Parts: sequence; structure tokens; C-alpha cells
Amino acid sequence: MSIIYQENTKTFHLYNQEISYIMTVLPNGHMGQLYFGKRVHHRADYSYLYETNSRPMASYVFEDDHSLSLEHIKQEYGVYGTTDYRRPAIEILQQNGSRLCDFRYRSHEIFFGKPGLSGLPATYVEEEREAETLRLTLEDPLTGVGLELLYTIFAEGGILARSAKVNNGGKETLHLTTAMSLCMDLPDCDYEWLQLSGAWARERHVKVRKLEQGIQAVDSRRGNSSHEHNPFIVLKRPGADEFQGEVIGFSLIYSGNFLAQAEVDTHDTTRVLLGIHPMGFDWQLETGESFQTPEAVMVYSEQGLNGMSQTFHRLYQKRLARGYWRDRVRPILNNNWEATYFDFTEDRLVEIAKKAKECGVELFVLDDGWFGRRSNDHTGLGDWVANPERLSCGITGLAERIEALGMKFGLWFEPEMVNKDSDLYRKHPDWILAAPGRSSSHGRNQYVLDFSREEVVGCIYEMMAKILSEAKVSYIKWDMNRSITECYSQALPPQRQGEVFHRYILGVYALYERLTAQFPQVLFESCASGGGRFDPGLLYYAPQGWASDDSDAIERLKIQYGTSYCYPISSIGSHVSVIPNHQVFRNTPLHTRANVAYFGTFGYELDLNRLTVEEQRMVREQIDFMKTYRHLLQFGTFYRLVSPFDGNITCWMTVSEDQTEAIVGWYRTLSHVNMPYTRVRLHGLNPDFYYEEQRTGISWFGDELMHIGLITTDGMAGQVEENTGEYGDFDSRLYVLKAVRCPEEV
Ligand code: DGJ
Repeated sequence: MSIIYQENTKTFHLYNQEISYIMTVLPNGHMGQLYFGKRVHHRADYSYLYETNSRPMASYVFEDDHSLSLEHIKQEYGVYGTTDYRRPAIEILQQNGSRLCDFRYRSHEIFFGKPGLSGLPATYVEEEREAETLRLTLEDPLTGVGLELLYTIFAEGGILARSAKVNNGGKETLHLTTAMSLCMDLPDCDYEWLQLSGAWARERHVKVRKLEQGIQAVDSRRGNSSHEHNPFIVLKRPGADEFQGEVIGFSLIYSGNFLAQAEVDTHDTTRVLLGIHPMGFDWQLETGESFQTPEAVMVYSEQGLNGMSQTFHRLYQKRLARGYWRDRVRPILNNNWEATYFDFTEDRLVEIAKKAKECGVELFVLDDGWFGRRSNDHTGLGDWVANPERLSCGITGLAERIEALGMKFGLWFEPEMVNKDSDLYRKHPDWILAAPGRSSSHGRNQYVLDFSREEVVGCIYEMMAKILSEAKVSYIKWDMNRSITECYSQALPPQRQGEVFHRYILGVYALYERLTAQFPQVLFESCASGGGRFDPGLLYYAPQGWASDDSDAIERLKIQYGTSYCYPISSIGSHVSVIPNHQVFRNTPLHTRANVAYFGTFGYELDLNRLTVEEQRMVREQIDFMKTYRHLLQFGTFYRLVSPFDGNITCWMTVSEDQTEAIVGWYRTLSHVNMPYTRVRLHGLNPDFYYEEQRTGISWFGDELMHIGLITTDGMAGQVEENTGEYGDFDSRLYVLKAVRCPEEV
């Protein structure tokens, strides 16, 4: 890995074994983008990469000179209003009403390591030599505004992390109305765009379409990263697939309003913008003040989508997630939500926990309904004190009873919300986000606390910290069950109302930071009505997130498959729930429910007492299985093999680092009669290792499994059967492969 600055041509080349990123100072002082992709040789001058041909109808920068029009040149951080007509990376409203900016290169610094971003989640290094950083400093001479563009290249992987900081070094108060984390101009538009989109209970479905002239975008203006779109997109070459071909993934480490956009211009170049959504954003910058954007990460892979995902997984698992739980397998939990909803007593909870313990569960989680006067979703949010009518000895007493069973205890909170029927709201009605003179909309009968205010965050912190200090709580599920409306802070002046959405998220991060620092061994799981805020920003604090409120195994195939494009398997909260399923009313076999949930954090979302004796026996086996293999399942190298978005079969696998173990998950949605023979070609194995499948004892070489394929028609017994199990629809199998000595060698 290296960052070279070529003084004579004012060119920067950031490279490692896999990628090169090249840019230069243009004749007008702006930064021009020259290349991002597979590593190329270093040379002093790449200026042939920017176009100086004049084109009809272009506007030019210099008088009597037809060679420099920003319209035709790839920029590092484009500005609107001069000669570049594309959407800008930055806009600043000045006191004379102008929004023009002219950011010129001033200086740079190159250093090992990677600086943190104040108040914001970001990737990090543990050793300085893991990464090298370039800080470019630009200035708009008229306003005196400084712009710092930060680029970090990691020693390993095709990763480039970027962010921007705006410093008001001038004399007047300014309004920053656009400040993207990343602006990436690519030389052509021969790409397909992939996004992860959906809705509540249908999050992160994979959608692909061709890039065309014009703008394509996904975004959120809901205050959370949202169920509807994830802050992640991929541009892939048309021939690229899961295993080969060029792809670039773009991910934003942020949990609030975002915009991910590609603009293909008239000459087929593509501008990608990623960052805080400019709509409604307006940050007042006084003289001497700075604004830091969130971090965006680009991953280039020529090993297709799996190659890109594996790079994101490693980075986000090891250098975004932090703390005690980062590298640890996750406890198998039993959550009471779908078992009881609001209808529980302390004894009923203990009864559920006892059976869970008997089956091998390690952590019992008490979900919504334990605090204030909460007996339904109309009351209680904001009063984070146990309801004595339900829990006679409070959380401390219940936690002790659970611990006495030999299990850990976990607790649900929804810190950012309040019901009007709560002591907190009665005391502080002005603590919600609400615009003066306008009515406030509710969502699930609740209102959003103004987390842009320190005193609000401080008050919630005190209540949560009291419980965590007094009771033995080992896990927190942090929920957020509505999007933001009427986003107005009663504590900020009119000219700062455009800051509220972002200040709100900074408040969420500040509370997470305080709690995780104060209680470092507590495992945090993020949640927002399922997967409404499943984003990299929260992974920095909570190494796992509840992926969706849809707990049906078949629905989960698409959700977890889509999620895996960017997020590591150890981060995907996935549980076995009852049948008929509470969201889609489908009956799926117990083994399939577990076979899907294994590829995640794993747990149960039901009362195990309600299962038959035979089912309880199966649950014990499932838990033993998960305990044996969870390191491989959660931290192995994950491959998507067959997509649920393409047909009836889903298949994925995980391989251990030393390639001696692998687990393949195979799932069939509907059963059919007289089906063709099927096999799935595996990936990531050692071609020379001899692998034994643990259920049948049948063995193959790695190269056979990768090139001929794993035969899935008949459960590997070599018999011609259409269906190996007693189940028809929604069947699944796990194939556990372990390297053994080949008998022919013995
Ligand atoms: C939404 C979550 O996604 C559920 O798992 C559950 O915690 C409920 N909220 C509780 O209100």
C-alpha cells in the first residue's frame, strides 16, 4: 500500500495490491479524478486521462481557451454553477445569495493510520501500518472556506474510505446546504446498478437495473436509514456475476437521511454521489466552525459480487464493529416478543426461560412492555423504570431469577421515543420534535424525542444507565419504531432547523457511545421495527441488528440474502419463530426455520414450552449444532451460490479460514414432481482437500465439489429420489463438510 504524490504533475496515486486511485490538480486548481479500479503501474503523468477536446455548447473556464470545461472532466468533489452542470458534492449559501464555490488545491498531508471522525462512526485501524491516509486541503478564496478531503487506503482489500470536512475560515456566517461524503466520477456508464430496497418486513430485496442517461437514486428522508432503501449501492459491469467481473460497492456509514445517486451525463460519464440527503439539510457555519461529513466506503472487486461482499464483511466485522463482542460468537437467545407480546407476568417469563435453559439457550431477552404503565403500545415509552405490577422486584429481581437459572439476561429499550401517556411527556411536552403551530403526527401512537438536545439524551442516559448499573443486564435490544415527521427542534433557532435531522442522529450516536463505553461487556443489538435502521453506522456501536420483523423462514431467505451483500453474517439477527408464522401465516418445517436462522446470530422467538416433546428434542439438537459451528457460521467466508430472487432454490455457504470446514445451506421453496437432477457448484474450498459430509459420510475432493458440484437432488445418497425428507414445500438441508485424510492416501 502506498500513496505517491508526483510534484511535477501534481498527481496523487493511492494503491495497494488490488486497486489504484489516481487524481490530479487541474489547471484551474480543482481536483480532477483520473482513475479508480484494478491496480495499474505507477507513472509520473496520467494527464492523458482528462479530456481537453472542445465540444459544442460547452462553457469554458479560461478566456480564449477551449480546453478546460469542467463539464467534460471527472471531478473529485464537483461544484455546481461554473462549467459543471452535474449535481454537486457541495453547495454553500453565502450572505450575498450566491451558491458558487471554487475549491482550489492548497496543500496535502500523507500519513500512516486513519484518523477518527469526531462524533461519527467510522472504520478504524489497530496498527498504523494497516492503512495510509491522504488529507487534501482545498480553499474557496472568495469566502475563505476550507475543504478537507480525506482518503484512506487499507493495506488489504480493494477498499477506499472517504469523507469531507468543511471549515469556515472566512468572515461571514454561511449555510452549508449540500455536503456529500463521496463524489466519484467514472469514465463511462456501462454498469448495472444494484440496490437493496423494500419495505417494513420486506427489507433489503435485491433490485438491479441498467444505468441510463439521467439520474437514478435511492434515499431516505425519514430520519432513519429506512426499511425502504439501504445506504448501499453497487455498480457492476454487465457481465459480472457473483463470482467474476468488475463491481464497485458504495456504502455510507450513517444512520439518518441519505442519498445514493448515479448521474449519467450526456457523454455517458457517471457521477456517483453518496452522503447526507441535501433535501432539507442546511447547516449554519459560523466563522471558525467546521462540519464533518459521515464516512463513505468504496470497495472494488474483480471477483464479482461475492468478492466485494467478502471485503465489506471483513472490514465491517473487524474494523467497524468494536469492543468485547466484535470477535466473539454471539449468545443463543430466546426473545419473548412473539411468544407473549404485551401479555406476560414475571412467572410466565421465568417459565419460558426455564424451558429455554433446558434446551441450551444462553440468553433470555425481555422485549417490550416491562416499563412505566406499558400494557399496550399507547403508553409508557419514555418511563424507563420497571412496572412493579408486572415485575415485583424490578429488573434487578427478574435478572437475578434468570441468572439463577444459569442464563444471561437481556432487555429491550426504545430510547428515542415517548408516548404522550407517560410521565416523561407530562413533565417535558416540549421535548418532542414538533413544529410550532402545526399538529404532530404519531407513528405507533408514539412521538420522537428531540435527540438533537443534550439534556434529552442525558436524561435518557441516566434512566438506562441506572438499570444497567443495578441489574445484571448482559444484552440490550435498542428499538426505534417510527420514522420522523415534523422535524423541528423547539430548542434551536429558525436558521438552524435544517440541522435537526443530522443533530438527531449525532444524539443517537452520542448515547450509544456513552452506554457502550460505560458498559463495555453488554451486547447491543440494533433494531428499528425490524430492519429499518440496519446500516453500517450502527454496526460501530451494536455489532448485530434485528434484520426484519418478518421471521418467516422463506421470507427471510430473500432478506438475509440481500443483507449479505454488504453486512457480515455475524451482524444479521435471525431467529426461529412459531408456525403458523405471525407475519405471513405460513407453516414451514422446524428444520428449515433453523437452517435459515443459523446463518445469522441465531435464537428463538417463541415459547419453547408450547412445542411438542419431539420438537423440543429437535431444538436441543439445533442448539448443540449452533454451539458447535457458530464460529464458522458467523465468522467464516460467506458465498452466495443460488439466489432466491432467481427461482425456487436458494443456496449459500460458509468456509473456515483454513478451508478445512464448510457448511452449505440449501433451501427449496416449493416442491415439484419429477424434477431434473440438480447440483450446486461450491466455492472457496481447497481443491486438494478431501471433504467428508457429516450426515452421510460421503466424501469428495474440493475440486470435485467446486467444478462438478454438490449433488442436491437426492441427499447425496446417489439414489434417484425427488424428495429426501418427509417434507414437501419449504424443505432445506445443511451439508457440513470437513476435510479428512483421503483413504487412497492412507
Ligand atoms: C419492533 C421490533 O422489531 C420487534 O422485534 C419488537 O421488539 C417490537 N418492536 C416491540 O414493540
